[in-house]
Amino acid sequence: MVAKSMEELASLCKRRGFIFQSNDIYGGIKGLYDYGPMGVELKNNLKNAWWKSMVYERDDVEGIDASILSSPIVLKQSGHEDTFTDPLIDCKTCKSRWKADQLNENTCPSCKSKDLTEPRPFNLMFKTAIGPVDDGTSFAYLRPETCQQIFTNFKNILDSTSRTIPFGIAQVGKAFRNEITPRNFIFRVREFEQMELEFFVEPGNADKWHKYWIDIRLEWWINQGISKNNIKLLNVEEKELSHYSKATTDIMYNFPHGEEELEGIANRTDFDLGSHTKNQGDFTINSKVNKNENSTTKLGIQDLEKKTWYIPYVIEPSAGVDRGVLALLNEAYKEEKIENDNTRTVLALKPHLSPIKAAVIPLKKNNDNIVVLSKKIKNNLQKLGLGRIMLENSGNIGKNYRRHDEIGTPICITVDFETLEDNSVTVRDRDTMKQERISIDNLTNYYTNYFN
Ligand code: GAP
Repeated sequence: MVAKSMEELASLCKRRGFIFQSNDIYGGIKGLYDYGPMGVELKNNLKNAWWKSMVYERDDVEGIDASILSSPIVLKQSGHEDTFTDPLIDCKTCKSRWKADQLNENTCPSCKSKDLTEPRPFNLMFKTAIGPVDDGTSFAYLRPETCQQIFTNFKNILDSTSRTIPFGIAQVGKAFRNEITPRNFIFRVREFEQMELEFFVEPGNADKWHKYWIDIRLEWWINQGISKNNIKLLNVEEKELSHYSKATTDIMYNFPHGEEELEGIANRTDFDLGSHTKNQGDFTINSKVNKNENSTTKLGIQDLEKKTWYIPYVIEPSAGVDRGVLALLNEAYKEEKIENDNTRTVLALKPHLSPIKAAVIPLKKNNDNIVVLSKKIKNNLQKLGLGRIMLENSGNIGKNYRRHDEIGTPICITVDFETLEDNSVTVRDRDTMKQERISIDNLTNYYTNYFN
């Protein structure tokens, strides 16, 4: 069963330390969230799974980690200064502000007034001053998408790695958008993370690579535990396309509040490198780019057979980390009837995503022999480097199992009096709740097999 409501998920997230409203003790700021002890592990595991599949398991992708503060000229050339806007409408009666598409029949959703302003473009980028004098002349934008520094580093990466087309550059990191109305928990927020790949291809092969990446990305989400029934592809209508895109296919997920975009896979054509390149006139650029008089670098590639230069096309799978976390929590959340008419909440995350890989539970918290042995088991498993192992040294065993079911810990290892005599522990499986005795000597093998 998938979670019933966003409230239910948000409540679990707060109760179990996944996600908190940011600046909460001072009333919070809308559209900002903090990831707690469990949330940071889940999020890191998701980002690591993406990096593993996009960089380590391929031979045609390099990674980068670029600055967040971006020069205004980069975002002028990319088109964001002029076009990265949402239509903003003010209600003259209650002074609330809305994105135009949130209004039904020109009525304020808050006070139902029809006395509204005309829509006007509102740029979604955050600005900040650079240097000690804030006189408006020296500023940077907080990047609204992670990919622009991939384009500005294109030549650095080509020169330092000797890559040839086709190849990609991957980045995971923060992006910022001053959303008019952030909503639906971590679905639409003002500070979020993206996992983006810019894959550079010959123009004639772009359609083929676009299809390739749509298939790869759909399969990847399914491998993370998203059910096929809750995910589908949507070809974005021409009038809805971003200014840089020739074609975009969105991976849509059935979130608790409705079906919305989890990831977009766009054919960005030669727009980006064509916009940022020096000597634009030396190339045949197919897209409509802004004239560039400032770039110091040519961002073309030589066709070695024809001896001509061209601007590569870009295929971009761009996924939201926070939306990924939300989708995975929604998929994993289950309420199950167990014996005596009781109910248990389980987060049936795939083990590689679980915040805690195993909990080691000393049955008697005040028995030194049991506690010392539990710590030793915990440290040995931790050294294997597969993720966080927790020594669960509080509460009774029933409460410990319930807590670990709710945070998605795949296995609980209990050390008891028998352990001191026969060197075996009880291992409990989260999903089946089955318990078995395992010799401590076999625990490393059991654990590594479980996660591989
Ligand atoms: N570089 C292309 C790009 O940024 P996008 O469709 O605007 O394209 C890509 O964003 C992904 O980033 C989305 O599919 C979504 O998962 C995530 N995203 C965008 N805006 C977001 C927001 N305000 N809050 C959370 N995630 C967001």
